[in-house]
Amino acid sequence: MPSTTRPRPWWESGTIYQIYPRSFYDTTGDGVGDLTGVIEKLDHVSSLGVDAIWLSPIFPSPMADFGYDVADYTDIDPLFGDLATFDRLLAEVHARGLKLILDFVPNHSSDHHPWFRESRSSRDDPKRDWYIWHDPAPDGGPPNNWISDFGGSAWEWDAATGQYYLHAFLKSQPDLNWRNPDLRAAMFDAMRFWLDRGVDGFRIDVLWHIVKAEGFPDNPPNPDWTPDKTERDKVIQLYSADQPEAHAIAAEMRALADSYGSRVLIGEIFLPNAAHARWYGTPQRPEVHLPFNFQLVENPWDADVLRRTIADYAASLPSWGWPNWVFGSHDAARIAARIGEAQARVAALLLLTLRGTPTLYQGDEVGIGRVPIPPERIRDPQHFRQPSLNIGRDRSRTPMPWDKSAFAGFSTAEPWLPLNPDWPERNVAAQSVDPSSMLSLYRRLLTIRRQTPALAIGDMKLLDAPSGMLAYIRMQAGELRTILLNLTDSPIAFDWQGDVLLSTLESPANPGQLRPNEGLILA
Ligand code: NOJ
Repeated sequence: MPSTTRPRPWWESGTIYQIYPRSFYDTTGDGVGDLTGVIEKLDHVSSLGVDAIWLSPIFPSPMADFGYDVADYTDIDPLFGDLATFDRLLAEVHARGLKLILDFVPNHSSDHHPWFRESRSSRDDPKRDWYIWHDPAPDGGPPNNWISDFGGSAWEWDAATGQYYLHAFLKSQPDLNWRNPDLRAAMFDAMRFWLDRGVDGFRIDVLWHIVKAEGFPDNPPNPDWTPDKTERDKVIQLYSADQPEAHAIAAEMRALADSYGSRVLIGEIFLPNAAHARWYGTPQRPEVHLPFNFQLVENPWDADVLRRTIADYAASLPSWGWPNWVFGSHDAARIAARIGEAQARVAALLLLTLRGTPTLYQGDEVGIGRVPIPPERIRDPQHFRQPSLNIGRDRSRTPMPWDKSAFAGFSTAEPWLPLNPDWPERNVAAQSVDPSSMLSLYRRLLTIRRQTPALAIGDMKLLDAPSGMLAYIRMQAGELRTILLNLTDSPIAFDWQGDVLLSTLESPANPGQLRPNEGLILA
């Protein structure tokens, strides 16, 4: 894992914090967060010690998929505010020395987008080809066996014009046709609109989906599929995603971003290592700066598995590719729900000391765990498509608990999703004054990371360690830090040496062992 001597862009040493605006802070009293709410809580973000905010979609949308169904790429949904409020947010973010990354959703729009309305109006409409239309199969059914990521056929019949249209997600999220040059130009104009306003980059939604194979062949069946898996996995997405032509588009997006100076592109890409690494492009034709790496979310919390995962990922990176790590998002289960609060502290240490840009998800800094969502309050459309799988994403989208006032200080009205049941104690205000809280741990970790080049940008070497433990060193220009993590709730005998810069536990560390649930940074 070699280091390089080139100048470092901000997003390599920086930490990204994801804000899910619906659930951050509501200033209008409608139970849904908004942009003024983000502005009012920026001090929380700066005091955490992160460098950049990634905002989930804020564009006009019927909210069938909570903003990932965009009806206008160049405006703000009134639920969140307006362009003037957005400009104020951007100025306030920059005034604090932070960066702002927007969510760009290029694979699909909303079916309410005027482009789609025109496209579906007739087969001869000039925008017909901006979306993916196809005649039925000979039996009148869908053109092929592609399955939507949310379950069911990826094709929807349009009786008025007698063709099917493709949707990789909900039927109200028709896929855009990136093979059409006019659509392409319109989407690049949308990116320019925000870059001209001064945004610092984009997180690009399902980037690997944006081009489909010519001729729309059937996807091969997945021999490992069992009914407890999502319907999507019945077939292997060989022809519906990760097509070579999509890389050319990513390279074009990168060229656009680079023409604005230091802007970052982060691609949402779920693929095995070798295919994933290709999204960095080449030095001659770079693609995204960071293909999001979700392997901490996807893999079991087990020291052996993680050691292999970390090593394999590092080995898969091209020499010009900077790594990154994600531990939670608006789509994944909460870390603390998955592995418990004691281990969530160890996970925070891991995320913030691995080599690569970390992305934190709002609420993880106070350790929100499992939040029961009563059936009548379920909102996630993915849940309704396949209820038996219990994979609803509402569990990670619950509002930020700010303090112990009504509705956790999130809103003056009943929030759109329930709060974490322990909000009267588990909230930002309470944890801010408690040195042993999760929030204090995150702040300490981020402070140490900022002050320690070895942790922010240094090389990394995995060490041999007893079962249940992860150990590695980070080093930069003669500075060396050792990280030891006990991923179990039993003590592990281990003869460590050095000064303890940070422990996930409160009392002094014991030489000769790692205590249950203990993580250490040693100098
Ligand atoms: C990935 C987003 O993170 C998720 O929330 C959304 O439903 C899909 N892409 C479709 O846009």
